[in-house]
Amino acid sequence: MRISLIVAMAANRVIGHKGRIPWQIPGEQRMFKEITIGHTVIMGRKTYESLGRPLPERVNIVITRQKDFQAPGCIVARDLPTALANCPPQETEAFIAGGSQLYHEALPLADRVYLTVIPREFPGDTFFPEIPPREFQVAKKEHVDGIVPYDFYVYERIRGEFG
Ligand SMILES: NC(=O)c1ccc[n+]([C@@H]2O[C@H](COP(=O)([O-])OP(=O)(O)OC[C@H]3O[C@@H](n4cnc5c(N)ncnc54)[C@H](OP(=O)(O)O)[C@@H]3O)[C@@H](O)[C@H]2O)c1
Repeated sequence: MRISLIVAMAANRVIGHKGRIPWQIPGEQRMFKEITIGHTVIMGRKTYESLGRPLPERVNIVITRQKDFQAPGCIVARDLPTALANCPPQETEAFIAGGSQLYHEALPLADRVYLTVIPREFPGDTFFPEIPPREFQVAKKEHVDGIVPYDFYVYERIRGEFG
């Protein structure tokens, strides 16, 4: 099973502000849906609470340290390894869908990163970590024009001779 991060960030690496994503880009949201639909999405408790509901047509796993946390329609896991172990056996790609805490923890395990960059700065309190340039290479780059233009990258982990 491939482990992928999927994220949209501003030029100053902001991904969130006061529990929300500080922009709305319809085409970008559509792309997130197209990429993740039919797969498993894994998110931190704060990201789940900002969505307020499971993402439809996907297996949703929420990570929390709270023992009796209720997330109707979601699997609740106590940590990232448990979340990964709870993906359906036939899953081919699990998506880490934020937020910052989870991205930091999952990046060392990731095979792929789907990264949208909005080329302007936003005020925010939550940031995406640097993608280590020695560990990942850009496999795809696309510029998308629109009311809010953005760049879309796919990073793949560099595999050595022995994988
Ligand atoms: N731009 C984007 O693409 C994007 C995507 C997703 C989210 N966001 C934004 O990011 C912000 C939220 O990010 P965040 O970093 O503050 O929170 P988060 O990662 O969504 O959630 C953090 C919470 O998840 C649980 N958690 C995280 N790591 C864990 C671990 N290893 N073991 C057990 N539980 C763990 C803990 O829950 P408990 O406290 O319940 O134990 C922790 O408080 C929001 O503003 C959201 O809108 C942006």
